[in-house]
Amino acid sequence: MHKVPFGESLRIIARGSRNWFAERPIVVSFEVTDSCTCYCRHCDHGGPRDNSRNLKPKDYRRYMNVLRPSVVQVSGGEPLMRPDLVEIVRNIKSPTGLPYTILVSNWSLMTKERYLALREAGINQFSVSLDFPDERHDEFRQCKGLYRHLSEIMPELASLGHDDIVLNNCITSENVTEINGIADKAREWGVNVSYSAYSPRRTGCRDYFLNSPEQLAVLKAELDRIKSRMDESKWVANSASTLDSTRAYFEKGSAPGCKAGLRFLVVTSDGALQPCSMHFKRYPLHDQSRMIREFTENNNCDECYVSIRSYLDKSFPQLLGENVAGFFSFKSRSDSC
Ligand SMILES: C[S@@+](CC[C@H](N)C(=O)[O-])C[C@H]1O[C@@H](n2cnc3c(N)ncnc32)[C@H](O)[C@@H]1O
Ligand code: SF4
Ligand code: SF4
Repeated sequence: MHKVPFGESLRIIARGSRNWFAERPIVVSFEVTDSCTCYCRHCDHGGPRDNSRNLKPKDYRRYMNVLRPSVVQVSGGEPLMRPDLVEIVRNIKSPTGLPYTILVSNWSLMTKERYLALREAGINQFSVSLDFPDERHDEFRQCKGLYRHLSEIMPELASLGHDDIVLNNCITSENVTEINGIADKAREWGVNVSYSAYSPRRTGCRDYFLNSPEQLAVLKAELDRIKSRMDESKWVANSASTLDSTRAYFEKGSAPGCKAGLRFLVVTSDGALQPCSMHFKRYPLHDQSRMIREFTENNNCDECYVSIRSYLDKSFPQLLGENVAGFFSFKSRSDSC
């Protein structure tokens, strides 16, 4: 995985540290549209939605000036459905290179031209969902031809050498046997991989959760093998501790200690602040501190362990330690670019 250059690493960590102590979010997820090109079986989005109240590209600058996160996720729905996505990213990004910006997408609409334009506008990392390492992906996402498209465009864009593409596999009961198969596919396509966990909270469906001892045994074996395949290149983008916590979440059926609303939050397509994508209590832009008081300080929800949580539940020293060692360029300046 491409490491963040030294100067930019310093700025990201400095801003993240300030936000940690000022109780501003470290990570903000902008859901730039509710519409989607897929109808995934594990998700509450799917298909077209009303886009008439979507924020305009220039609105995102206003949100950035108030929230000042060090990391931004551009997500949805399917963010590539916005024809003005490049303009949105330009408004999120400042001339200092902040924030570190991740596009979370299914890539059904990705082209070489859009990839290059989005990089140029400031996307640092392309997180691409992959549920199965073959055509079962199309069936699960209810999107014919998606896997074939990925298998063509991934190697093509990876060969440009920017090392900024990460497959994101959401582990479910349907694909738990495929965890290493997904990693093999990442290797074959020349990209990186990361893992997150299914939450029943989105749709209310428990069928995709890991419910049996057999499924949990498979999860353990698959994750142990992933851990043995990790190396300094960070092609497996999770930390070992995050993989352990993902397993613990499935074993216990819960993950307490969520900091939604405080360490991370969601901005909806029409501009409301929400603690996360699965709690729909809405606040105006300038009311994050009220959200912390009303929601975060009383939040007992432990129903997910999605990526945004898995990074931010940690203590400040652990968070800093893992990122300094993994993605930022403090250990060695020679491998920073
Ligand atoms: C909501 S999607 C939005 C971005 C884009 N449409 C995509 O699929 O990558 C972001 C991520 O959430 C994951 N996701 C969807 N439903 C989920 C659930 N019930 N639990 C955990 N993750 C889920 C998806 O697999 C995807 O990786
Ligand atoms: S997971 Fe992503 S692609 Fe699938 S329905 Fe949800 S928003 Fe759309
Ligand atoms: S655990 Fe936290 S992030 Fe997950 S659904 Fe509950 S409040 Fe949201």
